Amino acid sequence: MKKSLILILVCGIFVPQLSAQKLSLQDNNKVSSEVSKITEIVLPAPEMGGGMPLMEALAHRATNRRFLPESLSEAQLSNLLWAANGVNRTNLMKRTAPSARNAQEIDIYVCMENGVFFYDARKHKLTMVVDKDVRKDMSNQKFVPTAPVVLVFVADFTKMDGFSDEAKEFYSATDVGYVSQNVYLYCASSNLATVVCGSFNKDYLTQLLSVKESGKVLLIQPVGKMEE
Ligand SMILES: Cc1cc2nc3c(=O)[nH]c(=O)nc-3n(C[C@H](O)[C@H](O)[C@H](O)COP(=O)(O)O)c2cc1C
Repeated sequence: MKKSLILILVCGIFVPQLSAQKLSLQDNNKVSSEVSKITEIVLPAPEMGGGMPLMEALAHRATNRRFLPESLSEAQLSNLLWAANGVNRTNLMKRTAPSARNAQEIDIYVCMENGVFFYDARKHKLTMVVDKDVRKDMSNQKFVPTAPVVLVFVADFTKMDGFSDEAKEFYSATDVGYVSQNVYLYCASSNLATVVCGSFNKDYLTQLLSVKESGKVLLIQPVGKMEE
């Protein structure tokens, strides 16, 4: 089968650059079984030139819970993730969101129709960690699965060596707020709808992403095109 056809079949939602490989996940190995299928989405470079002036984006920043069923474009997904917590100073490997003591402990998982993906900010790519649609299972709030993309923010406590348990809780809770606000501002500037949610099925996501001991699922944030 032609590679382009495989890409469309597997990704469905957009046609990013993909590389086929066995599922060999991040260091923290989120999934036990290997799945032989295309598991990586290499995102296009984020577009630095677009969007609104910051003051206009702040004027438009709002919660919206009504999403069109349409997918985001590959450029929108790339821009969204980079804005959320991408690397903005490659020489220092620092991020668009600040973090206490530069721990960079907030990870982003991206839940879409075709699976759950880990966002590797350094490589600006997505790696599949679960090959099913979990959007309906992650919250009782009815609007959640209507969004084409649901971001899951997870604190990776293994990146917080030297923090007390209390400090891990406190600083990860503060740091996730910056990431969420970056998402809000990107959405405001691109006319996308978003809502950050503290109410979701934490036990389900904690188990799904195997973060019981090593971290904490903090917030979810659905994103999609705005229903007028
Ligand atoms: C930490 C946090 C958790 C939230 N959880 C939810 C939620 O579970 N469900 C929901 O519909 N909205 C949730 N919201 C969105 C708030 O309801 C919303 O921000 C608030 O009504 C103010 O509206 P605005 O964002 O348009 O200014 C949450 C917001 C924050 C900051």
